[in-house]
Amino acid sequence: QEPAALGAGSVKQQISNLVVLSLRATVPEVDVEPMVEVCTAKFGDYQCNNAMGLWSRVKGSGTSFKNPNAIGQAISKNLPACDVIESTSVAGPGFVNIVLSNNWVAKRIQDMLVNGIKTWAPILPVKKLVIDFSSPNIAKEMHVGHLRSTIIGDTLARMFEFSNVEVLRRNHVGDWGTQFGMLIEYLFEKFPNWEEVGNQAIGDLQLFYKASKARFDDDAEFKDRAQQAVVRLQGGEEKYRAAWKKICEISRNEFDQVYKILNVQIEEKGESFYNPYIPQVLEKLSNQGLITESEGARVIFIEGHQIPLIVVKRDGGFNYASTDLAALWYRLNEEKAEWIIYVTDVGQQQHFDMVFKAARMAGWLPDPKEKKFPKTSHVGFGLVLGADGKRFRTRSTDVVRLADLLDEAISRSKSELLQRLTENGKIVDWTDEELAKTSEAVGHGAVKYADLKNNRLTNYTFSFEQMLSDKGNTAVYLQYAHARICSIIRKSNMDVEELKKSGSISLGHPDERVLGLYLIRFAEVVEEACTNLLPSVLCEYLYNLSEMFTRFYTNCQVVGSPEEPSRLLLCEATAIVMRQCFQLLGITPVYKL
Ligand code: ARG
Repeated sequence: QEPAALGAGSVKQQISNLVVLSLRATVPEVDVEPMVEVCTAKFGDYQCNNAMGLWSRVKGSGTSFKNPNAIGQAISKNLPACDVIESTSVAGPGFVNIVLSNNWVAKRIQDMLVNGIKTWAPILPVKKLVIDFSSPNIAKEMHVGHLRSTIIGDTLARMFEFSNVEVLRRNHVGDWGTQFGMLIEYLFEKFPNWEEVGNQAIGDLQLFYKASKARFDDDAEFKDRAQQAVVRLQGGEEKYRAAWKKICEISRNEFDQVYKILNVQIEEKGESFYNPYIPQVLEKLSNQGLITESEGARVIFIEGHQIPLIVVKRDGGFNYASTDLAALWYRLNEEKAEWIIYVTDVGQQQHFDMVFKAARMAGWLPDPKEKKFPKTSHVGFGLVLGADGKRFRTRSTDVVRLADLLDEAISRSKSELLQRLTENGKIVDWTDEELAKTSEAVGHGAVKYADLKNNRLTNYTFSFEQMLSDKGNTAVYLQYAHARICSIIRKSNMDVEELKKSGSISLGHPDERVLGLYLIRFAEVVEEACTNLLPSVLCEYLYNLSEMFTRFYTNCQVVGSPEEPSRLLLCEATAIVMRQCFQLLGITPVYKL
């Protein structure tokens, strides 16, 4: 029987729970965190690395242990008896190698097959968080940087939601600021009956922005009016508010199109939302003596930064930083978020570092060294590059229309699919609808995966050829791998659903065991990806999983073998875990390719 000590959570978490009990029995006088990792050597599946650290704490204090190895031996001996661990061994300076029992691994997989993958969700030490992502600016282009933010932010949100954390998905759109003065004045000038004209008539907002900017730069009288318009808008004058709303709405419709295509849920709480909170937040900071006057502006000086954080401009207006301080205050105090995560390009790292430090100076956040909540994190990412190694742009215009880009991904994946199906005569098996749905899933999945698979801090080169290739670490390859497993299951005469209820898994072959062990690591991989805010960790897992499956499938006959019932269950478990990875990455799986 499993001891209650095992608890819930990932395998690593459960082993850690056992190790805690052993540590308490081994060295009751010291309190240490369990150090459990996946085993790097062949001698075990997991390892406990506490002995060396413990040795340096207890040696010379009259301990009966002679060396770290002896502590390792004791940790091993004191592990509670249970059916999880098959055997242990102690290596060198006390590393305890733990081999899991095949039965326990198999049972864990069977449990998942019966009760669903949700039972493999990790347990995270946080209940509610904000993810601030996508966040394009009204009337300016929504560029590939915003696409990255949207894709990365959505995946993080999905991983936390899967782990039963409440996620507030926030779109911090740039809907406030001095540019609205010129936009509004230009609207009045170009469309005297602007209240009646449809949004289409105003047309492309980016061109509209450019034209109004040109007017602003060329005509002093217009510039004057635009500046007054800002004041009147911020003063809440009806007509100006209405014009502002109209402009925002046009932008919003464009953004929503992209979210719909990408299947991304996000709630807009733009900069304007926090505007009313700025004065009171600044007053609190000011009362704490954090705000000083500098060259006519009001600023916060921050340790480690040459220039201060400007919170009130010389003209008395608020800015990006004052809005972010108010938003952070709101998220901590009104929304009671424990973790606030910002997804933007690395270029904004300095800004967030200053905002976070200011919040710490104000006592809103604990010292990060304490590793306590609430906390804030900036999830930075690198640039998207074109084939020329420069910032990604399309040929015709100097901006990349995201909707067009995503359409191109579909049409390219469709023509490749058509070509392949025609070549091997399978085209007759496909309906038009299947073709359309599959090309969309494959095309969009490819764009997302290409973005997510790299460490997010590195720049990556946007290449349709690469991302749509069916070889290497691509979404297309993974879709094929998954579809192939589905076809194996279809080919068998056995009913997987029935097997789930009555059958059992055995892991006799080394490749079965490797696959089974990797499957049950799923929870700790999600846990790591969440803890370190790294979607690439999940991509790597998914890719490795499909490689391990291939090895298993090459060496272990499934259909028609005596082990068919057990092996079919392993296929099904692999397909389920792969689909859950796809879901977390925002990719729609396909069952036939
Ligand atoms: N609108 C900003 C941009 O396009 C991103 C906003 C990020 N979020 C924030 N709370 N500052 O660069």
